[in-house]
Amino acid sequence: MTSTPLRPTPEAATKLRELGMSLGFAGALRAAVELGVPDALDEEPRTAAEIAPQVGAHAPTLERLLRALGPHGVFDERAGRRFAHTDLSRLLREDAPGGMRFIVLWATAPWTWQAWPLLADAVRTGERVFDTLFGKQFFAHLAEDDPAAAETFDRAMTQSSRITSAPVADALDLTGVDSVVDIGGGQGHLVHTLLERHEGLRGTLFDLPGVVAGALPGLREGPLAERCEIVGGDCRESVPKGRDLYLCKNVLEWDDESSLAALRAMAAAGRPGSRVALVQNLVEDSTELKVTTAMDLFLLLNVGGKKHTAAGLADLFAEAGLTYHGYRPVPGTSLHVVEGTV
Ligand SMILES: C[S@@+](CC[C@H](N)C(=O)[O-])C[C@H]1O[C@@H](n2cnc3c(N)ncnc32)[C@H](O)[C@@H]1O
Repeated sequence: MTSTPLRPTPEAATKLRELGMSLGFAGALRAAVELGVPDALDEEPRTAAEIAPQVGAHAPTLERLLRALGPHGVFDERAGRRFAHTDLSRLLREDAPGGMRFIVLWATAPWTWQAWPLLADAVRTGERVFDTLFGKQFFAHLAEDDPAAAETFDRAMTQSSRITSAPVADALDLTGVDSVVDIGGGQGHLVHTLLERHEGLRGTLFDLPGVVAGALPGLREGPLAERCEIVGGDCRESVPKGRDLYLCKNVLEWDDESSLAALRAMAAAGRPGSRVALVQNLVEDSTELKVTTAMDLFLLLNVGGKKHTAAGLADLFAEAGLTYHGYRPVPGTSLHVVEGTV
């Protein structure tokens, strides 16, 4: 070791300070959404004093909050200390088409503030920390103990699907497919998109009973409902039988034992030749590497899971008795389709 003191460049010092303060940025984003600031601001720039009564905030402190978000492109401070919407802050409005309000509330959910400080423990052991904090597994906790967090989670997944369902539907070749089941399909946005696009297709939404209870209205009544079945269950135990395509998006990112059990359930339920398509981020070729790798750690904390490599999924396919065919990116997203057959 040299005894010369190492002086960081200004850029390095700023970068590390910013990284260290990341929780502050996430907290500010969450606070703005919780207060409803994006909804209170319309197209006309307004001062914090004008917005504050509408959101029940202390005006000078609201100004500090908005100023902290400006450098991240969320709200824009103009002359006269007036704040205007930006493309990012508009996406946080409740009425925004393609909005991301629930994705932000989910990523910054209260439990995450308890779990992140335990990351070093999780890295030491390779084990999730959620069960230690909350006394049960993540999905059981949501279903049994925290309906508000469950609702935020389900709505976040639906918002996320709104962004990706069309490109995923474009990327899936449904030639020869008359029936599809979406395993862990949440509230059913992807099934809805596929049924809308393919007239003769029959679809099944499969997820935990409490989740399918909140299935999108368009799957429960109306023209698509006639071609849609909604089934509640645990995909590690069994899944609907005899479908042509077993679709599973962003689910097999929990512990390998659960992923293997779900793949085995698909192998047992499918006919010979039934297709299996996993849709998820792969660590390789990720177009959003910062998000993918942070999500990888988030999955470690809550479900003892991970973001996979294609090779890792190929091994799981083989172990479950499925034939692995390969993977390809879903254009316009950070997702991949990983395909196999029963
Ligand atoms: C990350 S979300 C993905 C939701 C949806 N596929 C999407 O891409 O938006 C994981 C989904 O798996 C569901 N899930 C968790 N455990 C399950 C189980 N044991 N059986 C069936 N679904 C399960 C959750 O309820 C949730 O909807």
